[in-house]
Amino acid sequence: MSKRVFSGIQPTGTLHLGNYLGAIRQWVAHQDERDNIFCVVDLHALTVPEAVDPGALRAKSREVAALYIASGIDPERSAIFIQSHVRQHSELTWVLNCTTPLGWLERMTQFKTKAEGRESVGMGLLDYPVLMAADILLYDTEIVPVGADQKQHIELARDMAVRFNNLFGETFVVPEVTIPPAGARVMGFDDATQKMSKSAKGSGHAVGLLDGAKQIKKTIMGAKTDLDLEFRPEHASAGVLNLMGVLQAFTGEPLDAMAARFEGTGYGYLKGEVYEATMEALTPIQARHKELMGDPAELDLVLARAAERVGAIAEGTMARVRKAVGIG
Ligand code: TRP
Repeated sequence: MSKRVFSGIQPTGTLHLGNYLGAIRQWVAHQDERDNIFCVVDLHALTVPEAVDPGALRAKSREVAALYIASGIDPERSAIFIQSHVRQHSELTWVLNCTTPLGWLERMTQFKTKAEGRESVGMGLLDYPVLMAADILLYDTEIVPVGADQKQHIELARDMAVRFNNLFGETFVVPEVTIPPAGARVMGFDDATQKMSKSAKGSGHAVGLLDGAKQIKKTIMGAKTDLDLEFRPEHASAGVLNLMGVLQAFTGEPLDAMAARFEGTGYGYLKGEVYEATMEALTPIQARHKELMGDPAELDLVLARAAERVGAIAEGTMARVRKAVGIG
């Protein structure tokens, strides 16, 4: 039997090149070998309620689902669904809340960073990793392809599965922690010390998957390189290495060959190639996305079918859980 894969992206902000190269493209590459479930995690988007715009959230969830499909995930082969459509995610979260020590959550790096300097923090922000564990454990997931920043949350999901199994008997499959492939991490074009992020302010930071050509050109040509006027491979800065990494992710060209090719040229040449490669990848994705968004009834049907299919798996797991703890 092929291995079960589960992953998800939050429908907040705009999906960008980092999401595409670091996550979605890897999902597409493996979709034939594995039994894939890809989720739009709208319940996770509620963890920062100040940022929630209810009408926009619902539209955004569809937009992200359509981007999965437009990027090459075939909804016939992989399930693409919206988290809140399968109620068992919330139900399992409650049960796991009761078996998870508070201290495990308080030491999560992402929680500490997000909570820092805030006067009041919602319970949801602390609970974020429990909901994420529920996502994973509901589907007997074996592999969770995510970026390095989520590794701690996956390890926590493992710990939670093991603890539950110890307390109530074998119920959950313990997921593997997979190390993301090297080079899957795209940094901000304005500041290559920061991972490209959906929430970063400023227009020079990320290339959105739905950005227009003009905007994309502006972001890439404006990318921060270094004070040298020409490409010097020996002391390439983080910004230059990021541009090279993006180009390599698109073309597969080895970095040393690329460095040799650009040595002594102005950075505009490297940036120009990054721009071309980006447009070549994004143009068909944007066209397909537009088509999909133009037929909302069809998209909703695809999402409803997937929710029904994965909902049956989730209900099977939940039935085991209810029996194990004596509810329902
Ligand atoms: N927390 C993940 C992120 O920020 C998104 C996510 C939610 C997720 N649930 C998940 C990823 C389950 C993998 C599996 O990237």
